Amino acid sequence: MARRDQIIDETIDRFPNVGNRTLARLLVEQYPELYTIESARTAIRYRFGANGKKSQKATGKKEHKEHCTLDLPPGISDVKKPVRFMNDAKWGILSDIHIPYHNEIAVDAAIKKLVDSKVPNLYLNGDCVDFHKISDFISDPRSASPNDELKILKRFLKSIKKYFKGHLIYKIGNHEVRYERYLYGRASAVVGIEEFELERVLGLKEIGFRCIYSKQHSVLGDLNVFHGHELPKGMGSPVNPAKSLYVRINDNGIVGHHHYISSHVATNAMTKRSHQTFSTGCLCQLIKDYSPVNNWNHGFGIAVVQGRKTQFRNLLIDRGKVCET
Ligand SMILES: [Fe+2]
Repeated sequence: MARRDQIIDETIDRFPNVGNRTLARLLVEQYPELYTIESARTAIRYRFGANGKKSQKATGKKEHKEHCTLDLPPGISDVKKPVRFMNDAKWGILSDIHIPYHNEIAVDAAIKKLVDSKVPNLYLNGDCVDFHKISDFISDPRSASPNDELKILKRFLKSIKKYFKGHLIYKIGNHEVRYERYLYGRASAVVGIEEFELERVLGLKEIGFRCIYSKQHSVLGDLNVFHGHELPKGMGSPVNPAKSLYVRINDNGIVGHHHYISSHVATNAMTKRSHQTFSTGCLCQLIKDYSPVNNWNHGFGIAVVQGRKTQFRNLLIDRGKVCET
């Protein structure tokens, strides 16, 4: 079965009770590189055989259930649709910058390496901004206001945008989620007003970044990308975050959030199929008052998607210099 047919079948199986128009929109959201609305609708019609007997024969006509036969409305799903980038491409993956507690030398070294390596796509994998003052923890009243942090964040996003001509992705990490928790807890009446939505407050659309929401699954080729707060509990401070990630997903993946580099390879004893998982370093200050002693390190990654397989390079920045690990 061709890959595109397989994608359509998987989407139909996942969302059996939606119409063709919604299916087409889902395909575009999940595979923006493969489909436009028109091409997705054509492909779905072809898959269902709506173009006549010839196409039905060619495709084996997949049956599409429009409605449940019981007196039961469609169940409510609070899961955000996954986003997959399957085309051959190079991606730079940066996480845990924690503006205004960033380390500008490490950030600069990472961006320079991506530019030198001709990486066109950038994935900011969570905690780009700290939102210190709206944390659930008691915060230092003298620290920067959310507004001050946002000003620095927007200047930073605008300044790096020019170096990347492909996709610009901004993942919502647990520190960005602080804004929503604050709003839900202290100003719930304004939840739903567009101007107060996190994506809008961060200024992502106007600057040109696509938002991947907290707990929204994303994949680069065959590499699953996470920020640590999205994974099942019990991963607070693992010795090897990469191994903990593998135990939870049994697949290839990377995770930001832990602020230090680790890697893990697991080979299935019977099939001999291997999976690789990684945790990436951070780009913030390595010593914080809430964590004066730690094993954090600076780092970032380069993911190369080729033929839907992904090679990941986990890079360390030691005293401002980029090194392979
Ligand atoms: Fe985090």
